[in-house]
Amino acid sequence: MRKPIIAANWKMNKAISESVDFVKDLKDLAMDIFNVEIVICPPFISLATVAEVLKDTNLKLGAQNMYWEKSGAFTGEISPVMLRDIGCHYVIVGHSERREYFKETDEDVHRKVKSAISFNLIPIMCLGEKLQERESGNTLDVVERQVKKGLDGLTKEEIKNLIIAYEPVWAIGTGKTASPSDANEVHKFIRSILKKLYDEEISSTIRIQYGGSVNPENIDGLMKEEEVDGVLVGGASLNINSFMKIIKGSGRPGPMKGGDQV
Ligand code: 13P
Repeated sequence: MRKPIIAANWKMNKAISESVDFVKDLKDLAMDIFNVEIVICPPFISLATVAEVLKDTNLKLGAQNMYWEKSGAFTGEISPVMLRDIGCHYVIVGHSERREYFKETDEDVHRKVKSAISFNLIPIMCLGEKLQERESGNTLDVVERQVKKGLDGLTKEEIKNLIIAYEPVWAIGTGKTASPSDANEVHKFIRSILKKLYDEEISSTIRIQYGGSVNPENIDGLMKEEEVDGVLVGGASLNINSFMKIIKGSGRPGPMKGGDQV
């Protein structure tokens, strides 16, 4: 069984003091939860102070983006080395908002994934179809392209800890979720691609999160699906009560594989 991973993507929300207040509360409330991995991805400016609060807790820190170079003249960018230095273990890469508003391409996403891994960060590689792609029956083609291009040329050893987040673009921030069985089908399809690209072991151990309007009401249904290994949460992760309900709704009994690598 794969260990569920619940990640909060705060996007461009919360000032430093709000971020710190949130994680201080979460640290206490989630103190006894070990059957679920919990990752908080605040804005860059809060990473250092949040890292201090998360030290020696069961909560992990992630960034929302990074550039693929180690250092240099790239005004306004943040490097994987800086993220490691500040205490991040995870980094979200290729979120649909980055693809849409900042014109990130599949190739950019690939460079970021590769670079993150080489600097010992675990990428949460986001992918998913737009509404129009779904309506025209192209969901699986889009997902296949994004998986293949994102992982292009990476070895089994390199990607073994990677997380994939399937986030249908039409479900993000809209209140519409993919039905649990639809999400499960796409996750299953992603596993079939991983099996073709790598092998059964990779396909069965890589964790695939669902994202898009996840909330305390729909978490149970999503987590009942065999191929859903957790969720990437936007809006509902900004409120401590709803985020705690999501965490509590996502535990699975039994022994867990994965998730203890960092
Ligand atoms: P919402 O949960 O607000 O729909 O956002 C999902 C998301 O984009 C997480 O990365």
